Formats: sequence, C-alpha cells, structure tokens
Amino acid sequence: MTPLQEVIINNNTKINPIWIMRQAGRYLPEFRKIRKLNPNFINLCLNYNLSSEITLQPLKRFDLDAAIIFSDILMLPYGLNQKVEFKKNFGPSLGKININEMSKIDEVDFVEKIYPVYKAIKKISNDDFVKNKNTIGFVGAPWTLLVYMINQQSPKKKLKEDFFKDKFLINKILLILEKFLKIHIKNQIDNGANVIQIFDSWAGLLEEKDLSKYIYAPTLNLVNYVKTLNVPVICFPREIKNYKEFCEIVNPDVVGIDYNIDPKKILKDIKIPVQGGLDPKVLLTDKNILKKEAFKYLDIFKDHPYIFNLGHGVLPETKPEMVEYLVNIVKNYQ
Ligand code: CP3
Repeated sequence: MTPLQEVIINNNTKINPIWIMRQAGRYLPEFRKIRKLNPNFINLCLNYNLSSEITLQPLKRFDLDAAIIFSDILMLPYGLNQKVEFKKNFGPSLGKININEMSKIDEVDFVEKIYPVYKAIKKISNDDFVKNKNTIGFVGAPWTLLVYMINQQSPKKKLKEDFFKDKFLINKILLILEKFLKIHIKNQIDNGANVIQIFDSWAGLLEEKDLSKYIYAPTLNLVNYVKTLNVPVICFPREIKNYKEFCEIVNPDVVGIDYNIDPKKILKDIKIPVQGGLDPKVLLTDKNILKKEAFKYLDIFKDHPYIFNLGHGVLPETKPEMVEYLVNIVKNYQ
C-alpha cells in the first residue's frame, strides 16, 4: 500500500504522507523556464510531454508522496468549447456561454479536445518517480466551475448581485457539468489516476442556506460516482461555512481543510481522515516559524488519520528550500 492509501484505507495514524496543492508550478525555477517558452497556458496543459515533465518536477526535488497532474480545473469548460484564457497578472478569463451550443457537445468531442491530459496521466503513472506513490487526478467541484463559467473570471471576495438571476441557465449548466465531470473523472482513472481530489475553491462564497443545492447535492453525486470506481476521493470545500455538515452529508474519503478553520474544531467535529490546513504564507517566513506551525498541525492530528498539505496552493514567491524543509519536518515527525 502507498502512504496515502495507508492513511485513507487503513486509517493509519503513525505516518504522515505529504503532497502540496499547486506543487507543480510557479515557485519552481524549472517550471518558470518552461512557462516562459510557452505563453499559452492551455496549450501547455495540452502538451503531454511538457505537462508530464512539469508534474514530475516537484517529485524530483522533494520526497513527496503523490504526483498531481499538471492541468487545470478550467480544462473542463475549455473541453465544453467555452473560451478560456489565462492572462498575466489577471488570472483566468472566460468567454460568454452559448448554452445551446454547449448542450450539443458529446462525449467524443469533449474527450478529443482534452485528450493530452489523459495521455499525460498515463505517462506519469508509469514513471519510476511515482513508484509506491499516488497519481492524483482532479476536477473542480460543480459549484466552483459554475462560478467561473458564469462570472467569466475569478470572483475575488464575493459574487455579483445578479449571479443567480438566470436559474434556468444555472440548472442547465449544472446538468452538463454533472455529465462531463463524470466523464473527466472516469478517463483520468482509466489512464492511471488512483486518487481523485475535488477542488471547491469558492465554497466559502455561499451562505449556509444555499449549500444544499449548490454544494452538498452535486458533490455527493460525484463522490458516490468516484466510490463506484473504487478510487479514494478527497474533497476540499475551501472556507465552507460548515465542514461538519459537509462531511456528514457528502462523506468523502478525506476532507481537505483551509487555513482559516481552527484545526482543533476539525479534530473534534470530524471523523474521516483530514488533509492540509497550514497557511501557505507561513512558507514565506522563516524556518523556525515554519517548524512551529507545521508541528501545530502534526501535534493536533497525531492520533487522527492525517495527510499533510497546505490550506490552499503554494504561493509563487515561495523559496523551494522552504518546501524542502517542510517536507523533511513532516517526514521526520514522530
Ligand atoms: O496542483 C498542481 O500542481 C497541479 C496543477 C493545478 C493548476 N491549477 C495549475 C495552474 C491545479 C490542481 C489547479 C487547480 C485550480 N485551478 C484551482 C483549484 C485550486 C485553487 O487554487 O483554488 C483553481 C481555482 C484554478 C483556476 C485557476 N488556474 C486560476 C484562478 C489561475 C490563475 C491564478 C493562479 O492561481 O495561478 C490558474 C492558472 C494556473 N493553474 C497556474 C498553474 C500552475 C498558473 C499559470 C501561470 O503560470 O501563469
């Protein structure tokens, strides 16, 4: 069994595997070098030789327990023919949805459009660097994808007032997402992904009264689908107002936590294995603070199945030596 499986399946509390959200990315000089030569981010994700090389870059440097495929949650709307671009110093920028056109897209068109993502997974999962480690496939949760598809860019701190005005459109998009998220997950698993993470980066934007319709119901549906494929599923409902209720209703194999929630409250409220929590900004401070903060999470979860990770993606300003230091702390923790 891999270290992640030990924690997820056997509930082993004696080991603390570690991987890092956004581990393949801009804080690594070797990534920036490739990125500079490839100004179109989508095309880079679709270049399976380069995307698999980028996926393995952090594993060549650090003793991480999983590879996460270098791709993006927005490859899904891209596969559905919505225009998706990544602009420098702005982030994602999406085109307007043509729901009639989108409704006509079938599985073959979709898979063909993003096929290199699956080819990259196949290549990585057979690489020696991931021996006895996991290959993590991922998707955006229906809610977070809906936010990007309607808002056409990152929403920053809150939704626009008229976000929910076209309920008919929202319901149609949710149905399309349900179908194609399953296709996307299945293809990742068929090509070698052996854990799935569902990123719900904008879960925190919803009030409690809306969680059931936009998060619990559609995410539960996906989680149950992944379970039928016998692959563990990690949910990361970032800054959700109610982690306890989320876990009781959706019941993923692991829940990822953000850095604003008190880990002691999570330990008290949540029975399933937990992942993450450490504030990525701590990696911008110094080694003493990093050690203290990492120990905080390790100590709190010492008798609970726990996968070390951050409470959101690693920041581009992070020095690789701080990541190395963190990995060593976690690996040497007794
Ligand atoms: O984790 C990994 O190393 C694997 C690759 C990965 C990327 N994006 C590559 C990427 C993963 C798992 C994602 C997930 C993703 N993408 C999320 C969920 C996690 C989160 O951070 O909340 C979201 C919301 C997106 C959408 C997205 N993609 C945004 C908002 C941006 C721009 C701002 C940013 O965070 O970089 C991207 C671009 C992106 N995706 C980059 C990378 C390495 C940066 C591209 C660049 O070099 O400019």
